[in-house]
Amino acid sequence: SILIVDFGSQVTQLIARRVREAGVYSEIAPFSQAAEVFERMSPRGIILSGGPASVNDEDPPLAPESFYDAGVPILGICYGQQVMTKQLGGNVLSHDMGEFGRAFVDIESDCTLFDGMWKVGERHQVWMSHGDKVTELADGFTPVATSEGAPFAVTCNEDRRFYGIQFHPEVVHTPDGARLIANFVRHVCGLAGDWTMAEFRKTKIAEIREQVGDGKVICGLSGGVDSAVAAVLIHEAIGEQLTCVFVDHGLMRMGEAEQVVSLFKEHYNIPLVHVDAEEMFMSGLAGETDPEKKRKFIGKTFIDVFEDEAGEIGGADFLAQGTLYPDVIESVSFTGGPSVTIKSHHNVGGLPERMNMQLVEPLRELFKDEVRELGRELGLPEVFVGRHPFPGPGLAIRIPGEVTKERCDILRKADAIYLEEIRNAGLYDAIWQAFAVLLPVKTVGVMGDGRTYDSVCGLRAVTSTDGMTADVYPFDASFLSRVATRIINEVKGINRVVYDYTSKPPGTIEWE
Ligand code: XMP
Repeated sequence: SILIVDFGSQVTQLIARRVREAGVYSEIAPFSQAAEVFERMSPRGIILSGGPASVNDEDPPLAPESFYDAGVPILGICYGQQVMTKQLGGNVLSHDMGEFGRAFVDIESDCTLFDGMWKVGERHQVWMSHGDKVTELADGFTPVATSEGAPFAVTCNEDRRFYGIQFHPEVVHTPDGARLIANFVRHVCGLAGDWTMAEFRKTKIAEIREQVGDGKVICGLSGGVDSAVAAVLIHEAIGEQLTCVFVDHGLMRMGEAEQVVSLFKEHYNIPLVHVDAEEMFMSGLAGETDPEKKRKFIGKTFIDVFEDEAGEIGGADFLAQGTLYPDVIESVSFTGGPSVTIKSHHNVGGLPERMNMQLVEPLRELFKDEVRELGRELGLPEVFVGRHPFPGPGLAIRIPGEVTKERCDILRKADAIYLEEIRNAGLYDAIWQAFAVLLPVKTVGVMGDGRTYDSVCGLRAVTSTDGMTADVYPFDASFLSRVATRIINEVKGINRVVYDYTSKPPGTIEWE
């Protein structure tokens, strides 16, 4: 296994992900607890992450000194390279000109990290983000690659198996980065690369059993992939100690609520309480047009209903949530400081504080595509696992302006036609998220010989890998006209269809 020492980088979890992709198990420990975790796990390699600090600060975060005498290979990335250099007697310069974004490195000598990929004399694209840089190597290190802004872009001490990289191999903008990390964990550390999602499942099941003991757990199902995968995994770990509560707010897509109920009750035989709370949500949303107020009302009401149900079930000690890594970073800044709230996400926070329960969040370090893989591993049906993400507040944030049951029904029909056409065209899996939006704008049209005065429907489709950035999906014009024609012909209340051509940023994926 690999121990990843976290110095507070925004992308430490990406290092863990790359290690998993190389087929190796890893754990992340904050630098202050790294020594303890090292003792417990006896890793075969250590990766020191990047971070916002400078080694020249007063009292900078350090790696435990003992790591350098443990006989275990070490890879330092960005701050990790600088801190290793400094701790071993080299030097780092602060407040110099930094390098941010795309850069190129020139390969000067061979190094185990480059095995089978980079050769002397070649130039390769990488992604840099640093202000400080190494200016004097520690004893025994040699430079093996340089960049314009960093003479020691890659350094190594092959005898001790210590490697330092100034750029970020964990991000996708370093095209060969994943292979560099794979070389470290396999060639340098000698790990076999046979760790799989099946192993993740076993490890998590053991962890859940240990955390929960014979306590009772309740899990809120949203109808989406994340909470479903979390629930199935937890059920596998603790069986009947888990009860699921599905708060049906009436803001789901066509047929979705029924699917959730049948999957859990019939397919998995997991105890499920289905609460039909549509009326409560609709009456509370009446007259409300402000996006944040809508989100907050839905979040709060969800919690109220959930809390009531939990009270009836009685005595649960743990609350399970399908929180993923991107939910965590979009909601809280990693270094503990406040980050700007773009939207109040509805599945993180709120519930645990109010209910005074411990959290069980087995998916907290995974990315969406990994959750899908785990879902397949657990035998969830493909239509469920492969489904596009759906936001907690549901259709309410796809109906700008006032939400009513009537408008939800109109939107559900349009959305179902759009998704059916996308599936028929074989495009569903190439798209991250596709949905219809019902605008609070009426326009004039002519149908048959009559005048119409009805709502506008917007269509959205984006590609993305994690929902944090997104590109517009470039449909053929003929596809879009087919969808538009069908929606206008088949859905009463809509007489005009438009396509949304906004990427994220500057737009967000959802309209509210
Ligand atoms: P935005 O609209 O912020 O959305 O670009 C990014 C991704 O997050 C989903 N989303 C949510 N998911 N609760 C969720 O579970 C929420 O409150 C929420 N709001 C947005 C959105 O569908 C997209 O996949």
